[in-house]
Amino acid sequence: MNILHICANPKPTDESVSKQMAAAFFTKLAEMNVDYELMNVDLYQEPPPFVSYDEYRGFWFPVFIGGYQATDEELSAMTYAKEQGELFNQADVLVLTTPMWNYSIPAILKAWMDQVISPDITFKMEKNGPKPLHSIKQIVVLAASGGVYKEEDPRDCLTTQIREAFSFIGIDNIATAWADGQNPLFFEDGVIRKSYAIESAQDLAEEVADLI
Ligand SMILES: Cc1cc2nc3c(=O)[nH]c(=O)nc-3n(C[C@H](O)[C@H](O)[C@H](O)COP(=O)(O)O)c2cc1C
Repeated sequence: MNILHICANPKPTDESVSKQMAAAFFTKLAEMNVDYELMNVDLYQEPPPFVSYDEYRGFWFPVFIGGYQATDEELSAMTYAKEQGELFNQADVLVLTTPMWNYSIPAILKAWMDQVISPDITFKMEKNGPKPLHSIKQIVVLAASGGVYKEEDPRDCLTTQIREAFSFIGIDNIATAWADGQNPLFFEDGVIRKSYAIESAQDLAEEVADLI
C-alpha cells in the first residue's frame, strides 16, 4: 500500500495539534506492522505555485480546443502539477494534515489542490464528466481548529472544501479526525478534545490497515 501524506502546517510538531495527530496515525500503522510505502510532502518545503495563465492554458486549452499543443512555457508551468500528480496517482491513501485557517484549509493546501486536480494529471475530462486517473481508495483528514463546529455548521468550509473538490475526481471515501476547541481562551477542555482526536486518528489508522 502507498500512502501520500500532504502536510500543510508550518509549525513544529510539538506546537501543532494536527501534526501530533499525524504522528499518532503513523505510529499506529507502524505498531500494527502495516506494510506501506510513505510519500511525504511537506508543503512548506515544496511549496506549490499559484496557477498562472501559462499553466491554465496548458491544462485547459487541450480540453476545450481540439488538437491544441501546449507551448514550452505552458509545459514548464505544468511541472509541479505533473510531479505531484505522479505521487498522487501512485497512492492508495491520501493523508491531509491541516489546521483550520479562516474557516477553511490554509492557502498553501488549496494551491496544491489547484495543481493536482488538473485535467490529464489526476483525471481525464470526458463529455459525461471527469474520469479518475488515480486509484485513491481513501482520504484521511487530520485537522485541528480553535473553535468548535457541529456537523453542517456553515462556517466549516474546511471539510466541505476537501469533500467537494475530491468528490469531483471520484473520491468520496473521506474520513476525518478533528481536534476542535483548541483555543484555550474559549474552551477549557481543549486537552481532552485533543486526546479524543488523537484516538480518532489511531482508529483511522486501523481503518486504513483494513484496506490492505
Ligand atoms: C491564520 C490562522 C487562522 C485561523 N483561523 C481559524 C478559524 O477560522 N477557525 C478556528 O476555529 N480556528 C482558527 N485558527 C486557530 C487554529 O485552527 C488552531 O490554532 C489549531 O490548533 C491549529 O492547528 P495546529 O495546532 O495543528 O497548528 C486560526 C489560526 C491561524 C494561525
